[in-house]
Amino acid sequence: MLILGIETSCDETSVALVEDGRRVLASHIASQINIHQAFGGVVPELASRAHLECLQPMLVRLLESQKITMNEVDAVAVTLGPGLVGALLIGLESAKALAWVNKKPLIPVHHVAAHLYAPFLRSTNGACCLTMLAAGKGDGVTEKHPEEQVTQAEELTYPYVGLAVSGGHTSLVLAKSPCEFELLAETVDDAAGEAFDKVAKLMELGYPGGPIIDKQASLEGADPTRFDLPRPMLRRDQKNFSFSGLKTAVASLVSDLGGAEALKSDPQLLADVCASFRAAVVDVLLGKARTALKTTGMKQLAICGGVACNAGLRKSAQKLARQYRVFFPQPAFCTDNAAMVAGLAWHLRDRHKGCDLSLNAAASLPLPGTKA
Ligand code: KG4
Ligand code: ZN
Repeated sequence: MLILGIETSCDETSVALVEDGRRVLASHIASQINIHQAFGGVVPELASRAHLECLQPMLVRLLESQKITMNEVDAVAVTLGPGLVGALLIGLESAKALAWVNKKPLIPVHHVAAHLYAPFLRSTNGACCLTMLAAGKGDGVTEKHPEEQVTQAEELTYPYVGLAVSGGHTSLVLAKSPCEFELLAETVDDAAGEAFDKVAKLMELGYPGGPIIDKQASLEGADPTRFDLPRPMLRRDQKNFSFSGLKTAVASLVSDLGGAEALKSDPQLLADVCASFRAAVVDVLLGKARTALKTTGMKQLAICGGVACNAGLRKSAQKLARQYRVFFPQPAFCTDNAAMVAGLAWHLRDRHKGCDLSLNAAASLPLPGTKA
């Protein structure tokens, strides 16, 4: 079954064709970074306009690239929420039109559930599209790369602990099936990616902040222990995440050090602040994930969403991999993409046989199986 996916929840326009929930025939992504960079963050109105301009030509190019017509597509999947309403609406209304005109079912998908589905995507040659970490001989850890094939025994299976970390979300879940989750923890203020973006902004480093800080923190000689930053809500009795206090701690550190200009004129200082901040975020994310693995008794952890691209997070996860199997989608399937939407939709195909034109975009939407 061939599903065409559309994703426009934030600042990436993406379309994809996925077969039987797994095989990604094509996934096209148009980033709007250039548009939002000047403002230091996503401007919702500009995001909607850019989606409107890009989406139609991208759909045409996607189908042409695979020499596929809408006749051969079995269903249209689209992100319903959560996200920016104006941005979501461009994708949703386009998907409705496409499905209605071509008499195809329309399958609405939850954005965070789609991120959590990304580890199941495969390339057309069966490559895993994942970095997989597992215990090796002695103290070592074996690592499989996105281009490698995996055996059935190595595959991620339900149930597992999922950590969705992006610019808009930080959710730790027990994933029971593609469409059923138990929420273990979520952020009470900023999302992890948002914290990266805001900290980069206060250091005047540019947008999006995650990759910029990650690059600085990965420089040779960058010292993550130089500045002792808080690890918020890491105690076992503290259920949720919180990153806004950490952001404030970095703001006061930067000010004590003489401000953004002083940092930028001292490469070692800048790298050390970035490394210390990244270490604090990584400790919190992996500390909470470890607690969730222990309390649920699960043996597998999948880390998804834009922040899962983070090199420090991937490196530190090696420690967890001595006891648990850890899965990271390849970066193109961590940040927003329509392949994860089309992939997840395959599991919802029996629930959506028609094209419901009354569907509305939702800025916030509880994960399937959890309470609002
Ligand atoms: O999943 P995504 O594309 O969009 C949302 O659903 O929000 O995630 C984007 C977020 C941004 O906040 C960006 O700064 C962050 O992911 N990000 C990173 C890295 N690459 C992207 N954060 C930390 N380290 C990275 N390497
Ligand atoms: Zn996302």
